[in-house]
Amino acid sequence: MSEIKAGIIGTGGISVCHLEGYNAIPDVKVVACCDIDFEKAKKYAEKYSIPNVYADCKEMMEKEELDVVSVTTWNAAHKECTITALKGGANVICEKPMAMNATEAEEMMKTAEECGKLLQIGFVRRFGKDAEIFKEFSDDGVLGDIYYAKATYLRRSGCPGGWFGNKAISGGGPLIDLGVHVIDLSRYLAGNPKPVSVSGVTYSNLGKNRALGAEVAWDMENKKRDEEIYNVEDFVSAMVRFENGFTLSVEASFNLNCKSDSGEIQLFGTKGGAALSPKLEIYTDVAGRFVNIQPAVDVGFSMDAFNDEMRGFVDAAMRGKPCRATAEDGVMLMKIIDGIYRSAETGREVIL
Ligand SMILES: NC(=O)c1ccc[n+]([C@@H]2O[C@H](COP(=O)([O-])OP(=O)(O)OC[C@H]3O[C@@H](n4cnc5c(N)ncnc54)[C@H](O)[C@@H]3O)[C@@H](O)[C@H]2O)c1
Repeated sequence: MSEIKAGIIGTGGISVCHLEGYNAIPDVKVVACCDIDFEKAKKYAEKYSIPNVYADCKEMMEKEELDVVSVTTWNAAHKECTITALKGGANVICEKPMAMNATEAEEMMKTAEECGKLLQIGFVRRFGKDAEIFKEFSDDGVLGDIYYAKATYLRRSGCPGGWFGNKAISGGGPLIDLGVHVIDLSRYLAGNPKPVSVSGVTYSNLGKNRALGAEVAWDMENKKRDEEIYNVEDFVSAMVRFENGFTLSVEASFNLNCKSDSGEIQLFGTKGGAALSPKLEIYTDVAGRFVNIQPAVDVGFSMDAFNDEMRGFVDAAMRGKPCRATAEDGVMLMKIIDGIYRSAETGREVIL
């Protein structure tokens, strides 16, 4: 097959994971990149030897013939950049969250269908080794029917700063940034059931002072903390009910008076349970005794998942393999997120 041409829209932090993923695939070449911060894009292009560089993704799509494009901008630009890339003839992987809300996400999915192109969503946790092995256990019937999951992604003080705290650009706080990962992973591991209702609460008691004053590991060059707007929630707790009776309880925070940062996903089935993060462990019974099983090889989530995600995307877009994180999955997630924010505002359960 001839060379597959890739482009990147938004040359910030996470785009490097996409770029390295493409570079690890022998017949893919990243030939163009673009960022509204043109100086930043130029430096990036120089650093990573990308021959063509643009400030506007429309111009990039007009001048280049790209097979695959990564949309790695901030959240408010996902819809516009994704639609531009799809209409420009490329298959697209758009970072999570898919969009600012479900209405935008549906428009993106519809555009992909109309253009006959693939739109994959950056649910990288689906490509973790832990998820893969969990699926093998689950498909083998070790867990029985999975009916409940508990997912947490808690940071004591960890807003990434900059636009992440600005609702007009991010769409929200830890729910849309962190919760999206663990809600999606739980749903995926439970077999992608359809959500039917949500009930949630959000709190904004600590955020601004914490985010501005704390020593956090997120103070990257382009995320200047001193000039930021901070108007997102700092904690969310929610319950999501699914069509098949499966229920998920989720908590996520940028700021919370907890002992330390933590994250765990536990799933509970009729024959066994499991925990992912930091390591995969299975809880079941054998010969009348409770046993806790760990795979002999250490299995957790690692950054290798990004390479697997990008390979999966290129295989699905160009080689007819199934897509593991579809636009439909992205839309479902945005419906859940919209519903949780609405429930928190109204104090009532929201039917999706
Ligand atoms: N999958 C993961 O684990 C993961 C991790 C981090 C971030 N993300 C997601 O990746 C996205 C980017 O996050 P980041 O940390 O790299 O942010 P970032 O701020 O480092 O980079 C975003 C870049 O997008 C550019 N941009 C904004 N609008 C644009 C437009 N219309 N056209 C071209 N460029 C534009 C900005 O100038 C900036 O350089 C976000 O959606 C975030 O949620 C995912």
